[in-house]
Amino acid sequence: MKIGFIGTGHMGVSLAMAMQGEGIELLLNNRHKEKAEVLQRKIRGSRVVDLRECLLESDILFLGVKPIDMDPLLREIGDSISSKPLVSMAAGISIEDISRRVPNRIIRIMPNTPVAIGMGVTLICFGEGFLESEKETFKELLRKTGDVYEVEEASLNPISVLTGSAPAYLDYFLDSLIKAAKEAGLKEEEATEYALKMARGSVELAIRSGKSPLELGKEVCSPGGSTIEGVNVLLDSDIQGIVKKAYRATLDKNKKMV
Ligand SMILES: NC(=O)c1ccc[n+]([C@@H]2O[C@H](COP(=O)([O-])OP(=O)(O)OC[C@H]3O[C@@H](n4cnc5c(N)ncnc54)[C@H](OP(=O)(O)O)[C@@H]3O)[C@@H](O)[C@H]2O)c1
Repeated sequence: MKIGFIGTGHMGVSLAMAMQGEGIELLLNNRHKEKAEVLQRKIRGSRVVDLRECLLESDILFLGVKPIDMDPLLREIGDSISSKPLVSMAAGISIEDISRRVPNRIIRIMPNTPVAIGMGVTLICFGEGFLESEKETFKELLRKTGDVYEVEEASLNPISVLTGSAPAYLDYFLDSLIKAAKEAGLKEEEATEYALKMARGSVELAIRSGKSPLELGKEVCSPGGSTIEGVNVLLDSDIQGIVKKAYRATLDKNKKMV
């Protein structure tokens, strides 16, 4: 299968890296060619192509450009490759928006950054005209990048705040923890290592145990112990209200994009 990538920025690179493998040829196209050339050296079975070649040769095309660059790109594509499925990952642009500009069948995906290491979560919405067998083949391809969920387009925004944006919330929380540990005398590298291993283990425990994060949190907080002192500071500072506001701000912006 030949998979085309137009736009080899952060997300394009992450998906392309995860998809390399037997039977897959990756055709890479980027506005500044050098970016695609750097990527090509790192990916088995890939080559850099111009836009025309990418459009004509690919069996399926991933559009990895920023939402703001989608309209000019779709104009350029026009009806030149109407039979090929286009995969959009652009935040805030609906299948209907894209279908107004090109005649192709459209798949909308919302990946997250851990797709780069095959541990991502990707949400998929299919537009009109896909057979169940074609949907399954596409989902199987995406499973190389991690977990895959087919969802209704109407629920894409609220879910993608959790899967796509909240990795940044978690990163900022961990960064705050590392900074606090540094103030208490730990070196940055050791604080970072402990914090990341703690996060990995805690998340894995929640997944494997089937317990809710709240149940697990309560288990760490022995009455009269030290952890509850810290947790009370978080709750008294309204961590739940703050996270709710952050979620809402991201969701509102998603709705207003482009
Ligand atoms: N980053 C995330 O976590 C994330 C998560 C979910 C979805 N997304 C979506 O993924 C898409 C890409 O985001 P990103 O963060 O990867 O952006 P990015 O790093 O800026 O990458 C976009 C790439 O597209 C290239 N480009 C722009 N117009 C082009 C054109 N007409 N032809 C060929 N290449 C073109 C840019 O090239 P130059 O740099 O050479 O100009 C750049 O390399 C966006 O639609 C975003 O909504 C991102």
